[in-house]
Amino acid sequence: MTDAPSIPKTAAEIRVTVAVEQVSELDDDDLHALCEAASAAIIEGGGFGWITPPEIGTLASYFRGVLLVPERELIVGRLNGMIVASAQLVLPPRNNEAQQHSAWLMHAFTAPYARGHGIGHVIVRRAEERARALHRYVINLDVRETQEAAIRLYESMGYVRWGVHPAYARVRGQTVCGIYYYKVLARRGRPASEG
Ligand SMILES: CC(C)(COP(=O)(O)OP(=O)(O)OC[C@H]1O[C@@H](n2cnc3c(N)ncnc32)[C@H](O)[C@@H]1OP(=O)(O)O)[C@@H](O)C(=O)NCCC(=O)NCCS
Repeated sequence: MTDAPSIPKTAAEIRVTVAVEQVSELDDDDLHALCEAASAAIIEGGGFGWITPPEIGTLASYFRGVLLVPERELIVGRLNGMIVASAQLVLPPRNNEAQQHSAWLMHAFTAPYARGHGIGHVIVRRAEERARALHRYVINLDVRETQEAAIRLYESMGYVRWGVHPAYARVRGQTVCGIYYYKVLARRGRPASEG
C-alpha cells in the first residue's frame, strides 16, 4: 500500500519549481502567459516603458517581434511550468564595432504574483551566462530610481552604479531619475577587472 500524499499545512510547505530558459519560439499558451505576466507587471508599475498596459494582442505582437530581431535574446522564467517573467539581452548593432564586447540587459520583470521565488536572480544569471557565451563581457542596464526591488537585486549581484540621469522618465506627470549600472563579467582565467 502506498502512502497518501501529504497535504501542505502552510503556504511555506507548498513547493514551487522555478525554471529559466532562453527561447527562440513560443507556443500560443506560453505567449499568452508571457503577455498576462507583462500586463500584470505594467499595471503594478514596474519596467517595460509602458505605463498603461496595452491590449494583450499588442503585447503578443511585440513579443513575436522580439523573437524576430537577431540582436535580441528573450529569456523567460517559469513558475510551476507557467511563464511569469522575462528579460531581454540586447546586443549592439553590427556597425557598432567598438561595443561588440558588451550587451544591455533590458525589460526584466517578474509578474507580481510570482515574485520572491528567486526567478529574477536566476534570469540575470542566465543573461550573464548567455552574454559570456556570445563573448560579451560587459553588461549595461538602467532602472528607474523607483524600482527598488530591481536596484537591490542588481546591486546584490555586483552591478556597479555609475550614473544618475535626472530626467530619465516621465511617469504620471512626474519626472523620475534613472540609475545606470554596468558589470564586467569574468572571462575564464582572467579577473573581472580586466574585462
Ligand atoms: C526586480 C524583479 C524583476 C525581481 O524579481 P523576483 O523574481 O521577485 O526576484 P527574486 O525572487 O530573485 O529576488 C527578489 C527578492 O526575493 C528574495 N527571494 C529569492 N528567492 C526567494 C524565495 N525562494 N523565497 C522568498 N524570497 C526569495 C530575494 O532574496 C530578493 O530579496 P530582496 O527583496 O530582499 O532583494 C521584480 O521585482 C520586478 O519585476 N520588478 C518590477 C520591474 C522592474 O523593476 N524591472 C527591472 C528594471 S527593467
